Amino acid sequence: MQYAKITGWGKCLPPASISNDELSQIVDTNDEWIRTRSGIRSRRISHVDTATLATVAAKRAIDCAGIDPTGIDLVLLATCTPSTMVANTASQVQHDIGATNAAACDANAACSGFLYALQMATAQIQAGMIKKAVVIAAERMSWHLNWARRDSAVLFGDGAGAVVLEASNEPAGLLAAKTGCDSGDRGILHISNCGTNTDRYQPLGPSEIHFEGREIFKRAVKGMSEACDDVLRQAKLELADIDLLVPHQANLRIIQAIQHRLDLPDDKVMVNIDQYGNTSAATIAIALCEAVERGLIQPHANIMSAAFGAGLTWAAAYIRWGERVTPVRQSQAELPPCDKTGLELVMPAVKACQGG
Ligand SMILES: CC(C)(COP(=O)(O)OP(=O)(O)OC[C@H]1O[C@@H](n2cnc3c(N)ncnc32)[C@H](O)[C@@H]1OP(=O)(O)O)[C@@H](O)C(=O)NCCC(=O)NCCS
Repeated sequence: MQYAKITGWGKCLPPASISNDELSQIVDTNDEWIRTRSGIRSRRISHVDTATLATVAAKRAIDCAGIDPTGIDLVLLATCTPSTMVANTASQVQHDIGATNAAACDANAACSGFLYALQMATAQIQAGMIKKAVVIAAERMSWHLNWARRDSAVLFGDGAGAVVLEASNEPAGLLAAKTGCDSGDRGILHISNCGTNTDRYQPLGPSEIHFEGREIFKRAVKGMSEACDDVLRQAKLELADIDLLVPHQANLRIIQAIQHRLDLPDDKVMVNIDQYGNTSAATIAIALCEAVERGLIQPHANIMSAAFGAGLTWAAAYIRWGERVTPVRQSQAELPPCDKTGLELVMPAVKACQGG
């Protein structure tokens, strides 16, 4: 039996950020509301496109694995904010990382995208079709925000994370997963003015994120907890066997509700929503990488992950870490410098959305 071991991990957070106090200068909100309702204190705003965020995260993961990019068979990019639709954004990343022998494909399952992509790449390795893959999740959610709408403008941010998967005889990597989609309610979370359902002969307004917050909240807690139970059963594990939960970072209260349902202590739950907000598909990829960097993932750790997003897609995964928790090579990959603050970066969009 072949397994798809995670041998490299990397993340890319653009340097410019907007704090809650800064946000309250441009949206009718305040730090106290955002912190207590969502747990978010700050979010990153990208000065580069999604492909560039993805490329830097992928290069860091490749250096971490210590592999030659020409040996990669698949570049799979989870995103709902592709920088280009045709050609796909993954082809730009394939070019920029030098993975000249790899297939390149974008995958969209919104916030569940990273776990969906991890499952797809793992299945190809387990089936013996490929040997090495880089699975990336990259998002530029700030592009979709309507800065006149305080409900969504405060919740999202930009960023990317990536992992390298390599065929291995050792039982490691994604060992059990459950993915699904409650499509009957797909309308309660969506982005408008985007896609070929729009009338391209009429002037379109800016795209914007719509959601029924309370309903999504309840569905996310139930969906992610039940998917975790399913994966535990498949893997024949007890909750006590889990060393770390790496949940999608949409709202701290959603994470705490799942933690409560699964009865996990604080030190077994990875949280970084306070710094980055909801980066959609990228949250789990970034959090996984940051958990290793913080020393929360030890050799052979049992990791549970769960996601929920538009569709309404959901997913849970049991990942067994390998032996190594440090990079093979330190990466030199960096974004181009940014000479603007987060507020300066969003100001043109703020003026357009607020009609000024
Ligand atoms: C959005 C969310 C943070 C709202 O938290 P909540 O406790 O459910 O808050 P409510 O929606 O009940 O809003 C309460 C009040 O805050 C107000 N409010 C909304 N956004 C606000 C903001 N940014 N600042 C200040 N007040 C705000 C509302 O207008 C409402 O006012 P009212 O009571 O006078 O009508 C929460 O429901 C959530 O995170 N849901 C999931 C979000 C989601 O879909 N994420 C993407 C997919 S994973």
